[in-house]
Amino acid sequence: MEDKILSLKTVAWKDNKVVMIDQTKLPSELVFVEYNDYKDVANAIKMLIVRGAPAIGVSGAFGLALAALQSSANTKDQLISDLESAKKILFETRPTAVNLAWGLDKIMNVAKNGSDVSEIKKSVVQTAQQMAEDDVKINMKMGKNGSVLFDDNDTVMTHCNAGALATVGYGTALGVIRATKDSGKNIKVIATETRPVQQGSRLTAFELHHDGIDVSLIPDTAVGYTMANRLVNKVVVGADRILRTGHVYNKIGTYQVALMAKQHGIPFYVAAPLSTFDMKSNPENVIIEQRKGTEVTQIGDKKTAPDGIKVINPAFDMTPPELISGIITEAGVAKPPYEESIKKLFEAKK
Ligand code: MRU
Repeated sequence: MEDKILSLKTVAWKDNKVVMIDQTKLPSELVFVEYNDYKDVANAIKMLIVRGAPAIGVSGAFGLALAALQSSANTKDQLISDLESAKKILFETRPTAVNLAWGLDKIMNVAKNGSDVSEIKKSVVQTAQQMAEDDVKINMKMGKNGSVLFDDNDTVMTHCNAGALATVGYGTALGVIRATKDSGKNIKVIATETRPVQQGSRLTAFELHHDGIDVSLIPDTAVGYTMANRLVNKVVVGADRILRTGHVYNKIGTYQVALMAKQHGIPFYVAAPLSTFDMKSNPENVIIEQRKGTEVTQIGDKKTAPDGIKVINPAFDMTPPELISGIITEAGVAKPPYEESIKKLFEAKK
């Protein structure tokens, strides 16, 4: 399994460059891109070359590490000012996943605590690399914590891609599925296609098939059919942001899947690291990214809607806590009432 996971390292630091899988090319081609300019990393986040909350968190950190190496500052203050400008550009790429701000803030803190230019450059690169290593370890721990919730011969639905491709490696929701399989249980997956960008068919189906995990693809419109006909008995998805109240922001369509699961009495789980929690915001402060209309009026390059049609294309939606059976993290599984159980997870981490 280790080989398979490592062969799909989504984002990595190599010879002072950031190396990423270009996810826009999957599943037709497995292409790696290399960047030595933080502005290219920002563009890669915006264009979904790299996507998925934990992956963009680490990419943001690597972007700032590049910005530090690119800076010609002679003083600490100049370097911090260069990093603040780079942070702004990286931060403005995508507004919903909180991991991006988390990754950027972590690097800024290290930089601000550094003593001089050369020490700061060294420590931000080291910290970003450490964050990438930790991501895989955290996902494996989360996977283990989540695997006890799944039984032999379960068929589990997932939406979007919360796998190795959405993290540095192993995945969150798909990490739980990998860990369940590795614990000796037989597990099958039903992946939704996830229109408009098709992370389910292009990425989840690709990586599970690549790792030899039994996966069937369904159109998003078949969620109700699949549940009503008992073709699935559990759901696990990832998250882009989780509030202290247990409100979960994830790929558009997650809310529909959760509602349908409730209707059919199917447990609905969310798997996410503590870096995905936003303990300060309320639902009214969370910005839902709105993406361009051509994602909806086209499939790939093929036009599928009339010219000039109006489009509403939110990238994420919010699933309220009452639809969620448990939130799986590296620190344990939070169960309702979430305000209490999430607080306990953070206290235990201190
Ligand atoms: O627009 P994307 O592809 O970045 O959206 C990704 C998702 O919604 C994932 O489910 C989420 O980031 C969790 S990834 C471990």
